[in-house]
Amino acid sequence: MRRAVCPGSFDPVTNGHLDIVGRASQLFDEVIVGVLINHSKTGVFTIEERIEMLREATSGYGNVRVESFHGLLVDFCRAQGAAVVIKGLRAVSDFDYELQMAQMNIGLSGVETLFMPTNPLYSFLSSSLVKDVVKWGGDASSYVPDFVRERLAARLRQN
Ligand code: PNS
Repeated sequence: MRRAVCPGSFDPVTNGHLDIVGRASQLFDEVIVGVLINHSKTGVFTIEERIEMLREATSGYGNVRVESFHGLLVDFCRAQGAAVVIKGLRAVSDFDYELQMAQMNIGLSGVETLFMPTNPLYSFLSSSLVKDVVKWGGDASSYVPDFVRERLAARLRQN
């Protein structure tokens, strides 16, 4: 079985992430979305909340699973039996750091990274920007699923 991992922080999942996961799901037998547990960075949502939203957003795909991981991405890939990491590239500015990580990961373990160009509709999109837009009452309806936008608004606009 050909498995790929789509890793990230997903705080929260955006339509840009979902575009990549959905396209990857057509190319691989199984796609595992790996949510990084990063103890040194507190997010807006807990890991459990991020996973819950990702599971809801990807429930229409029969071959996508959502799991959390900590430590090295390559160890998670090995544990999941995945030989490939899929990363979306929004712009050239993403490339430098992504290349470094891809080269480190192949050196560490042989896990390959495949880059997928982001849909141009989402080339400027990030979870951070969406959080800012929602926090200040802007319209983020094109950028995240409705239920994510509602949860963000409830979380960010209560203060
Ligand atoms: O959504 P993000 O925050 O841009 O995702 C970054 C992520 C999770 C893909 C990256 O930080 C990662 O792979 N972290 C795991 C730690 C690791 O394996 N580090 C060495 C990679 S070179």
